[in-house]
Amino acid sequence: MSKDYLKSRIGIIGGNYLRNSEILKNLKPRIVSTGYGRVFYYKTKNYFLITRYTLENLPPHKINHKANIFAFKNFGVKYIVSFNSVGSLKKEIKPGQILVVSDYIDLNPPTFYDKIVKHITPEISPKLSEIIISILRKLKIGFPRKGIYFQTKGPRLETKAEINLIKNFADVVGMTMASEATLAKELDLEYAAICFVDNYANGITKKPLSQREIEKNQEKNIDKIERIILEILR
Ligand code: HPA
Repeated sequence: MSKDYLKSRIGIIGGNYLRNSEILKNLKPRIVSTGYGRVFYYKTKNYFLITRYTLENLPPHKINHKANIFAFKNFGVKYIVSFNSVGSLKKEIKPGQILVVSDYIDLNPPTFYDKIVKHITPEISPKLSEIIISILRKLKIGFPRKGIYFQTKGPRLETKAEINLIKNFADVVGMTMASEATLAKELDLEYAAICFVDNYANGITKKPLSQREIEKNQEKNIDKIERIILEILR
């Protein structure tokens, strides 16, 4: 499988730290109205980029996932690559490492199908994920490993007891990716996710966890994210 797979329109979605990136420096944020609400996005010749927290910097549980994913569909995007900040559920997955999602657990999934009965079978795109892994290998950005993502609701972090439970079933924890993956599949879009491990989840180590620690590590990822995006689009 080669990167030619990505010759069609690509959608990129990530956190607000992307706004400080060189890639977006000369681009103006645009707004589009969808039936689900407004979406802020950036556009170039070959990709659309959405910062999922919008210009208002919404908390994770207030993100309008349906509007974001629907906008990609309207733009004619077929493949979505997402960038995510996560906490590690395993000692051996260390902050600073990168993980490509192979599957996910979401006990409260969203849906576009409120009026008709339609059961999709959720799936992270294996083909798109393999392309992402080969890109990470080529760029020598960490040693990419695959793993399972567990979605919690937020905005609060998890209790130690919650982490103790979920660490048996997943590798990383975050508040957004699984919603996007489900909605993308409902609209027949291929979705793959790159996770930046920004902290150990609460209680995995003795060190107390704080929002500041997570944000400090997120800032360090910008440069890697830019290199990955440029390589995807090359
Ligand atoms: N928990 C939930 N979401 C997160 C975390 C975490 O520890 N780190 C980054 N996003």
